[in-house]
Amino acid sequence: MTHEFAHPDEADGVHPIRHQVVFDFGTSHSGFARATRDFPDSLTDKLSAGAGSSSSPLKKLNIDYYIKYKTSWPGGQEPYAKTRTALLYDLQGRLVAWGNEAHHKYLMMHRGKQKNHIYIDRFKLFLDDSRKHEDPAMNQLKTLGKDIDDVIADFLGPLASQVGEYCQFLDTEDWNPYEVRWCLTVPAMWSDAAKAKMRQAMQKAGLIRSAKTTTRLEFCSEPLAGLLFETFSAQSRSVIKADDPVVVVDMGGGTVDLTVMCGSGSGFKELVQGLGASCGSTMLDSAFLKMFRDVIGSKDYDNVIKKSPQLENKLRNQWERRKKAFTGAESEFRVAIQVPSAMYNVCQHDDGVVPGTGGAELEDGELYLSRDTMVMLYEPIVDQIHGLVLSMLNACQSKGINVAHILCVGGFSQSKYLVGELRHRLMEKDAAKIVVSLNGGAAVLLGAPIYACRPELLLKQVARVSYGAQVSVPYRPERHGLRESLGDRLFQAPDGLRVKGVFSPVIRKGQALTPGIVATKKYRAESFTDTIIRASWFVSKLESPIFTDTSDCKCIGVLEVQVTPSQDYANRDTVEVTISMSPSGLMFHAKSLSTNKPVDCRIEFHD
Ligand SMILES: Nc1ncnc2c1ncn2[C@@H]1O[C@H](COP(=O)(O)OP(=O)(O)OP(=O)(O)O)[C@@H](O)[C@H]1O
Ligand SMILES: [Mg+2]
Repeated sequence: MTHEFAHPDEADGVHPIRHQVVFDFGTSHSGFARATRDFPDSLTDKLSAGAGSSSSPLKKLNIDYYIKYKTSWPGGQEPYAKTRTALLYDLQGRLVAWGNEAHHKYLMMHRGKQKNHIYIDRFKLFLDDSRKHEDPAMNQLKTLGKDIDDVIADFLGPLASQVGEYCQFLDTEDWNPYEVRWCLTVPAMWSDAAKAKMRQAMQKAGLIRSAKTTTRLEFCSEPLAGLLFETFSAQSRSVIKADDPVVVVDMGGGTVDLTVMCGSGSGFKELVQGLGASCGSTMLDSAFLKMFRDVIGSKDYDNVIKKSPQLENKLRNQWERRKKAFTGAESEFRVAIQVPSAMYNVCQHDDGVVPGTGGAELEDGELYLSRDTMVMLYEPIVDQIHGLVLSMLNACQSKGINVAHILCVGGFSQSKYLVGELRHRLMEKDAAKIVVSLNGGAAVLLGAPIYACRPELLLKQVARVSYGAQVSVPYRPERHGLRESLGDRLFQAPDGLRVKGVFSPVIRKGQALTPGIVATKKYRAESFTDTIIRASWFVSKLESPIFTDTSDCKCIGVLEVQVTPSQDYANRDTVEVTISMSPSGLMFHAKSLSTNKPVDCRIEFHD
């Protein structure tokens, strides 16, 4: 749980802003990018030069000149913009290694040493509340007092040290993280609680002064970052015109996130509500491991892994290479996964084809995967992604939006089989609109600094859920229904019959929101002696829910606003709360109407 306090932190101002740095914290890989000091101005010049005709391609930028990022990471075998999102601890919870090195060290470790270490990766999945993620390593870390934000902080700390070294190398100046304006990329489908956890992790890593009040941390949605890179980078081959409606499909390791955006005057506006699901490439890894476990026999597999947990990482590693090599084009596709001997010895199958695996064959200590095996593993994920794209195209069609491009970014977009299947399944006219980023996994990292330097480029976003507070209001039969149906929701107050547990909407699902203040609400103290008003905040999948205790609603946290006690009920204080929305999430500010002064106002987001 965490708090979002209302007043910006004046202490931030003690440190001048000398760097603009983006972290792309990903499920499988993470990296950083730093914008040069002249980037914001150059961006403004380019944007104003390109703001002419709506039907001409937008002016491109030489991103490599303005955005610096690291491609050679400790423990990395080949140059890549990101390092592995992985950590290696000892049994006291002390960090032994991070990134590629954590993975490499763990894989190379002698079996006897493994049990004295805890290796964890894919921990971003713990912040995705649309699915439950389990990992025995996290359970072990919990017993050492570490929560998910501590683990993320343990990763962001060394990542930031790399930024420091990089900046010192480029600028030969001292480095202070408080002199950085940070931007973190986040899946567009993430909840406010997940973003709050990331703030907490940034503070725990010593990169911002306060998770609650800092003005030095922004979030950029991952699909928007991908779109900005493809629109403005000279490295991209996408030809996006200023007013082209684009469906961006960010296919990453964990999530697949879809957003529809269109250029409009000085920036971009979102056209329909975004969609997303946890069907990224690591779900394919899980499908493979599940099949492999079934081949060995789940009990025996678990026994071996319990003794040598590192073997699962070795299997993942082999699979990763096989997965990337699969294009679907070779009908004779046959690749081997070496079965660890401890598993081969107990395997319930003899050599030959293993039933239920699409023709995978065990042979001399190896499991050979066929084309049909790969297709079988891909199938549910392709179904899900295809379903998301279709839903998005239908939503656009019903709004009369003529989609110009379906832009695929993210590492998983580099799967030729996946993109080929999407092309094959979509109608010809839609298939022809698919454009795949050449930069795949790096597009989000390199596009985010564009947003970080010019957040005003985002003109409108569409609310994915309705937000509202739980309030009590005077009873209105036409809205709340018959008295008999209300049970104990109905109660007698000094000023008449009231209904409690009512959803008072502040943002409606589907509403187009301009970043900044989206609503102003007045709340009155229930009793004149009150010093605090508490209102539970809810999200709902419906546009206009009536009550908060129905299954479509979920409590996201409790807003607490300070009120001034008064002498009697009639003069009890009223506070005016302004609610702002941006990719960073919901923000609240409040003032008392009896004193006309700002008052303390915070929300505690639930897990
Ligand atoms: N050719 C390929 N075929 C299948 N998967 C691929 C291919 N190339 C990369 N990937 C997968 O893409 C993922 C990495 O993509 P990316 O870097 O965009 O993800 P991420 O940023 O770590 O995840 P997320 O953004 O979802 O948190 C890895 O799971 C990797 O295995
Ligand atoms: Mg990503």
